[in-house]
Amino acid sequence: MSERPIIALDFPNKQAIETFLAQFPKEEKLFVKVGMEIFYQEGPAIVTWLKDCGHDIFLDLKLHDIPNTVGRAMERLASLGVALTNVHAAGGIEMMTAAKKGLQQGTPAGHKVPDLIAVTQLTSTSEAQMHHDQQIMTSLQESVMHYATCAQKAGLDGVVCSAHEAKQIKQRTTDAFIRLTPGIRPAGSEVGDQKRIMTPAQARKAGATMIVVGRPITQSKAPYESYLQIKQEWKEASQ
Ligand code: C5P
Repeated sequence: MSERPIIALDFPNKQAIETFLAQFPKEEKLFVKVGMEIFYQEGPAIVTWLKDCGHDIFLDLKLHDIPNTVGRAMERLASLGVALTNVHAAGGIEMMTAAKKGLQQGTPAGHKVPDLIAVTQLTSTSEAQMHHDQQIMTSLQESVMHYATCAQKAGLDGVVCSAHEAKQIKQRTTDAFIRLTPGIRPAGSEVGDQKRIMTPAQARKAGATMIVVGRPITQSKAPYESYLQIKQEWKEASQ
């Protein structure tokens, strides 16, 4: 369970991140998400810089390729010292196993191996799209559960999922299996393009163990206050 909500740093460049983080006290150590947009713009240096500032990092690159390539890529990423990273479960058990092994091999001696989680079905995928595009004919829920089970078999530490699926994933796996959920909106805030949302407290009650929050903090007029409120609500809610 992470007590800190993970802040999605969805910004176009380092300067925008610097401006955003300048609104937080220097001593406030954050858990931040670095995604494809900023990683492809700034490269691994953005991760090193955020780490030097004292923050923990979820590197959200959603790797999906042949096992050998993913394993070797993870070996490289492990040297960056991130806390958490991910792959697509659709890559298969062999690919996920190779990813985990790559992380273990690439982690410098004496350092913690990053946690590895799998994306199941993207929350932007509808059941109709899954049937048509992927030719997976089960229910969306069943497909998510199947992918979560595969991730566990491959030795991964958890999954990215909708909070609506968190409890069932917990039942099918273990309490400690990470259920990281986006789509979090505090009561009364802008929904944006997210469809199935929950408040931080609802997500915790539903079985999420980590939450990712973007715009309610990054677009807030008072980001630090918004962050503290969300953190408080998340911490206080019981499962
Ligand atoms: O701004 P917002 O809180 O909607 O940001 C959520 C973050 O989580 C974004 O970086 C988005 O890409 C990511 N995400 C998501 N849904 C998923 C996986 C990741 O919203 N299924």
